[in-house]
Amino acid sequence: MKGLCILLLIVLITSCSNDNSPDYVNVTEDIDLSNFLNINFQELPNYSAQEIPAYITKDNTPPNNQITDEIATLGRVLFYDSNLSADNSVSCSSCHKQEFAFGDTFNVSSGINGSTVRHSMRLINARFSIEDKFFWNERANSLEQQTTMPIQDHLEMGFSGEDGDQDINNLIAKLSAIEYYPVLFELAFGTSDISEERMQRALAQFVRSIQSFDSKYDAGRALVNNDGQPFPNFSQQENMGKQLFFQPPVFDNTGNRINGGLGCAACHRGPEFDIDPNSLNNGTIGTADGSGIDLGVTRAPSLRDVVKQNGESNGPFMHIGASNNLITVLNHYNEMNLNGNNNLDPRLRPNGNPQQLNMTQDEKDAVIAFLRTLAGANVYIDEKWSTPFQ
Ligand code: HEC
Ligand code: HEC
Repeated sequence: MKGLCILLLIVLITSCSNDNSPDYVNVTEDIDLSNFLNINFQELPNYSAQEIPAYITKDNTPPNNQITDEIATLGRVLFYDSNLSADNSVSCSSCHKQEFAFGDTFNVSSGINGSTVRHSMRLINARFSIEDKFFWNERANSLEQQTTMPIQDHLEMGFSGEDGDQDINNLIAKLSAIEYYPVLFELAFGTSDISEERMQRALAQFVRSIQSFDSKYDAGRALVNNDGQPFPNFSQQENMGKQLFFQPPVFDNTGNRINGGLGCAACHRGPEFDIDPNSLNNGTIGTADGSGIDLGVTRAPSLRDVVKQNGESNGPFMHIGASNNLITVLNHYNEMNLNGNNNLDPRLRPNGNPQQLNMTQDEKDAVIAFLRTLAGANVYIDEKWSTPFQ
């Protein structure tokens, strides 16, 4: 029965588009989206007017792509739809899982034609940064541009237009023939036309809507004027970890830390914990398959929700998934090596010497306790960021 209806709809859509001025409004009226999607279209979830704390000031939303509930809803459907891959087996959400802060627990993720080259990135608070270039090596010039790159990647979703792959126009034709898309594009943009630009706008809006500000850190930050002040809701250990994270180290002239904090915030800048756009690499210069050198990784996702409130990691860390837990991360920064790395950030090699932070166990424990305060709760479970498919 369903098959028959779909057939009839395709006939309907095809006959409409033979006409020079297709009457898409009829198509909209004839389709009951609730047959396909778990979304209440009478009352769309709030993506556009979510509360953002006053101390959050960084925002990479371009003026021509402000979030609307309709466009972000389309983005949600696209994000969870495996029709976006050439063999219908992989969606954005295969590698960006809500339960892991929209990252992945595997070192590398599986695309339709093999494994990704780098570790999948968490997508929480991607909107709230000055850095507006995306991917570990910043090769996407905007979030909009980024969103259709995995679709056009041979390994990931397979519409590359190369090596016998179909291309993005084939995907657009494919989506145009899926019952719900002409309707959703019409709801979002006023007409049912599907284009790469519209897909980019919708996916970027959905990703920018994924925000997390219900952490213990936020509860404390709202009570003070700046990150330097002790937070009244923090334990002594969490406040100590915060100081260490924010204060710059004092080094002797051979790169040994003799005083001060650990200098993390010079690159991971609170209160957004976004990466400094001028950061060079942090000394993690391997490749995920262990075969080569990758000096160009100078971006990290926000350190918010790097671990969950209970301390569980949202997947391994760094572009190669080099560290499974925060202790390994701290050990990495504790004893920096040069290893022929000519793109190591100068902040990590004072006077040319790779830094030795000489952290005590108490200091490591405190920084980890602090990083746990950056985790929210709602973003892992809120239905508006979950699959809309039944
Ligand atoms: C097969 C796994 C896979 C699929 C499918 C996938 N991604 Fe990713 N995603 C990754 C990996 C791996 C990276 C990091 C790649 C790199 O930097 O080289 C990444 C990076 C990103 C980033 C950059 C985040 C940042 O902070 O710079 C965004 C945004 C993103 N993906 C969104 C999407 C969207 C939207 C889709 C669907 C259209 C998608 N991804 C599909 C694995 C995947
Ligand atoms: C000079 C800038 C810089 C400083 C200082 C710095 N980091 Fe980083 N950090 C980076 C970059 C760049 C990456 C991404 C590295 C990669 O994946 O190759 C990163 C990655 C990370 C990650 C992994 C993020 C992820 O999504 O996998 C954690 C956790 C982290 N840093 C914590 C810290 C802590 C804690 C400190 C202080 C002890 C610190 N960083 C100091 C630049 C810096």
